[in-house]
Amino acid sequence: MKRIIPILIAMATMVSCNPRPQSAQEQVVNNILTRVSVRQFTDQRPSDEQVQTLLRCAMAAPSAVNRQPWAFIVVDDPALLKQIGDSLPNTRVQNNAPLCFVMCGDLNKTMEGEAQEFWIHDVSACTENLLLAAHSMGLGAVWCAIQPNAERIRMARQILNIPDNLIPLCIVPVGYPAEQPAVKDKWKEENVFYNRF
Ligand SMILES: Cc1cc2nc3c(=O)[nH]c(=O)nc-3n(C[C@H](O)[C@H](O)[C@H](O)COP(=O)(O)O)c2cc1C
Repeated sequence: MKRIIPILIAMATMVSCNPRPQSAQEQVVNNILTRVSVRQFTDQRPSDEQVQTLLRCAMAAPSAVNRQPWAFIVVDDPALLKQIGDSLPNTRVQNNAPLCFVMCGDLNKTMEGEAQEFWIHDVSACTENLLLAAHSMGLGAVWCAIQPNAERIRMARQILNIPDNLIPLCIVPVGYPAEQPAVKDKWKEENVFYNRF
């Protein structure tokens, strides 16, 4: 037994030092399951290339009838970030976020009638894409609600000169994490139903 223990320790060390490379599918699932909201950031600004990738991922989202009824405002002007942080404290932009994305629906690009409401689903899909892409790049981000709060919408419009046809759904500050929040296990068997409720 005494001889086996060092062998077991060596084997465990080898396994931990040389983990099996994750398959693409494992990487994607792991990225989804380990994403957390990050609300504290370092001063380091994500690169322009990273910003482009995040926008590309946001725009890859599905949308009803492929209308893509969205517009994104990238804010990195320190004076504007301060104004957003002061006026919309829920956005956490004041916690050193070097930039934020204002995720907007464009009513000029939506369908008519009750289907107009699909813009909320569409821009939500963009937002989740952006959050997951940011996490995969080692960046932190958090979805901060603007819509449906009329006062927040008004403030965001005023600060950023947003025209009436655009509705800001949420603001997503993005940066390098200055905190490592614990991953939440949200699996709840009781929320799942098969075939009939
Ligand atoms: C529609 C929506 C609105 C949210 N609004 C805010 C917000 O205003 N401020 C904030 O700090 N987090 C906000 N969050 C982030 C949630 O608090 C967070 O996703 C939730 O606590 C679960 O934590 P996780 O993202 O780490 O899994 C919002 C998330 C969603 C989906």
